[in-house]
Amino acid sequence: MLEAIKHANLGDDVYGEDPTVNKLQELAAEKMGKEAALLVASGTQANLTSLMSNCNRGELVFLEAESHIYWYEVGGISAIAGLLPWPIKAPNAAFEPQQIEDALRPRSISFPDPKLICVENTHNRYGGKIISPNQLEAISDVAKKHSLKLYMDGARIFNASVALNIDVKEFTKHVDNLMFCLSKGLSCPVGSIIVGNKDFIERARKIRKVLGGGMRQAGIIAAPGIIALEKMIDRLRLDHENAKLLGQRLAKIKGINLDLKNVQTNMVTFDLDPSIDCDDFLLRLKENGVLTSAQSKNKIRLVTHRGIEKEHVETTINAIERILSKN
Ligand SMILES: Cc1ncc(COP(=O)(O)O)c(C=O)c1O
Repeated sequence: MLEAIKHANLGDDVYGEDPTVNKLQELAAEKMGKEAALLVASGTQANLTSLMSNCNRGELVFLEAESHIYWYEVGGISAIAGLLPWPIKAPNAAFEPQQIEDALRPRSISFPDPKLICVENTHNRYGGKIISPNQLEAISDVAKKHSLKLYMDGARIFNASVALNIDVKEFTKHVDNLMFCLSKGLSCPVGSIIVGNKDFIERARKIRKVLGGGMRQAGIIAAPGIIALEKMIDRLRLDHENAKLLGQRLAKIKGINLDLKNVQTNMVTFDLDPSIDCDDFLLRLKENGVLTSAQSKNKIRLVTHRGIEKEHVETTINAIERILSKN
């Protein structure tokens, strides 16, 4: 990727003249089965730009109560986009269509107009859980029935596609538009991509600009992105194998509560016994060279990615065993 950055052909992307960015965007649109694509700086910028491109200020957005947009994006959905987030809890990551039906209120002068449903696939706070194409189709049906648009925060959509061995288009065909991250498992230093129809992407391009995301010679970000799309998708399998191994071994350790059916992609989320001091556990893991954090009290998330090999998984398991045996 560093070599590709060094040799990238560059131009001014604010004028749409960076050939490397254009090549990446064409490749991404084609892979996702959509008309057009737009490179942005981060997943957070992709979500905010997409919300603003899909909706007008004052409209209502249904999203999952544990979603990244709702939890971790500094409230940009309301603070900047001016939208009303309407959280619905769906512990399986996918809404049941009836949940949307139940949440919809009659059109009224007193209520904001509902405009968009957001789904997150895979779902971060549920430990990388997958929303299947069938589940997406059911949500899409309810969206169409009520003239709502469907957007997917697909930061890790290739993890879902690789885990189920299904072409990514089988997921994307059910949503109006989506974003995915070039960073994370696809291993780029920076960047995310929004995909959708031409009108949506044209609006997004202007919104990206007002958000300060016009990046001039952005080919230095796009060059590794092309490598990610051409060469880094299949390697996600290794992350999934390592996560599975990690999960299977951790599930046997006393003090850890872990449901293996939730280990579907590249994350392992588990609960520590309430008697264990979570901060102390994290500190001792750090002293053993394992960096992680708690999603909430005593709920730990471990992520596998490029550079984490089987031997590192073993090191992690041994460290956790040692720490918990002293409790
Ligand atoms: C599901 C999901 N969406 C969006 C993001 C935001 O990505 P970024 O950190 O690039 O802003 C993340 C980051 O972890 C994520 O997990």
